[in-house]
Amino acid sequence: MSILPVAQMGADVLKHRAADVVDFADPALPVLVNDMIDTMFSQQGVGLAAPQVFVPKRVVMFFVPPSRNGGDEIPLTVMVNPVITPISDQQDEQYEACLSVPGLTGKVPRWRKIRYSFQDLKGNRFEREAEDFHARVVQHECDHLDGTLYPMRMKDMSTLAFVDVLQAEREKAGQPKAEVVD
Ligand code: NI
Repeated sequence: MSILPVAQMGADVLKHRAADVVDFADPALPVLVNDMIDTMFSQQGVGLAAPQVFVPKRVVMFFVPPSRNGGDEIPLTVMVNPVITPISDQQDEQYEACLSVPGLTGKVPRWRKIRYSFQDLKGNRFEREAEDFHARVVQHECDHLDGTLYPMRMKDMSTLAFVDVLQAEREKAGQPKAEVVD
């Protein structure tokens, strides 16, 4: 088990399209995935993409605890070569945060309902549908595979904020805490 260093905004590895995984027999693949799982949990993230640990390959993972998804847990899912298709025209805007953009948060528009397919570590292909928070996490993580960080998707830059300041302001105004995807 290893906890890997996380690339931060500005790092070259976060700016480019990551390569498809073609060799499912590569022994480095399960090692990478196990280290990413350790890293994601150590940072209290709900998702992590391989470029965030300086590996430019199309591998992402996420785990959404029940407290973050209306009581439904989204089990730990490791996705290789994922593909997303929106299945409705609807978008919504919510706060996101990112381990590669520490301390900040901002409102990001995302597709509300998607279908996504991916391969597992053996190369088997799976397909799922997702909406709301689950769909948002998948879109955020897969963006990392194409060199896109959430601030690049923001429409209203006035919502960009330091997480601590935003939460303190909301508390002062008697508003509930903003749910932040990270
Ligand atoms: Ni991120």
